[in-house]
Amino acid sequence: MNDIILEAKEIKKTYHTSEVAVEALKSCSLSFVKGEFAAIVGKSGSGKSTLLHILGTLDTPDEGEILLSGESILNLNDTKLSEIRRRKIGFIYQDYSLFAEYTAYENIILPIRLDDRKEDPEEIAAIMEDLGITHCKDKFPNEMSGGEQQRTAIARALAIHPDVILADEPTGNLDAENSLEVIQMLSRASRLYDQTIIMVTHDREVSEYADRIIRIADGVVSV
Ligand SMILES: Nc1ncnc2c1ncn2[C@@H]1O[C@H](COP(=O)(O)OP(=O)(O)OP(=O)(O)O)[C@@H](O)[C@H]1O
Ligand SMILES: [Mg+2]
Repeated sequence: MNDIILEAKEIKKTYHTSEVAVEALKSCSLSFVKGEFAAIVGKSGSGKSTLLHILGTLDTPDEGEILLSGESILNLNDTKLSEIRRRKIGFIYQDYSLFAEYTAYENIILPIRLDDRKEDPEEIAAIMEDLGITHCKDKFPNEMSGGEQQRTAIARALAIHPDVILADEPTGNLDAENSLEVIQMLSRASRLYDQTIIMVTHDREVSEYADRIIRIADGVVSV
């Protein structure tokens, strides 16, 4: 249970705009173990999204190292990077990012198909059942509630069996009832599938469902 799956070592990131330099991350070191559900909390502008993007290879730090399952993910070529994003990292966004012209089922299997693989329909059905969205199988996103759409996005992330799922404000667009539903499903999915999930939120109530809370203020992490 103590296997470290993702590790950030002394990450620094400064954004240079025309006028000023913003030190978004000053020196962040933290690690995540297999199966844990971690919440990163902090005020707006504290560096949460910057950190999550760097952990997910969507942005690069100025200094530091990121190890995913013991392997450095900085300085990889584009082919290798896109393979890691397709197979090893699942992303969940605040706005669900489902394709409007595809059903829930089609949205869930899309990353597998884009990776030139064939999904296992029984496994997808089991994931949908576990997340309580079996009834949404043939529905389009505009026929589902926000909570159902976000649970579909969670299923899509789980279906690729990534090393880690990264979620940026997954309940940010949801009302209290749907937020609760989604956060409980993330917690459940983490336990059921021994899935590492790292979630960014500014909502203290939401963060309380996580196994561990990591605080960030002005680009500095306190574990
Ligand atoms: N592309 C960018 N160019 C310049 N500055 C940026 C850029 N992205 C983020 N910043 C700055 O870096 C700091 C951290 O931003 P970040 O988006 O990581 O914060 P956050 O904690 O996710 O905030 P929020 O809760 O509002 O999403 C902020 O001061 C922000 O203005
Ligand atoms: Mg953010």
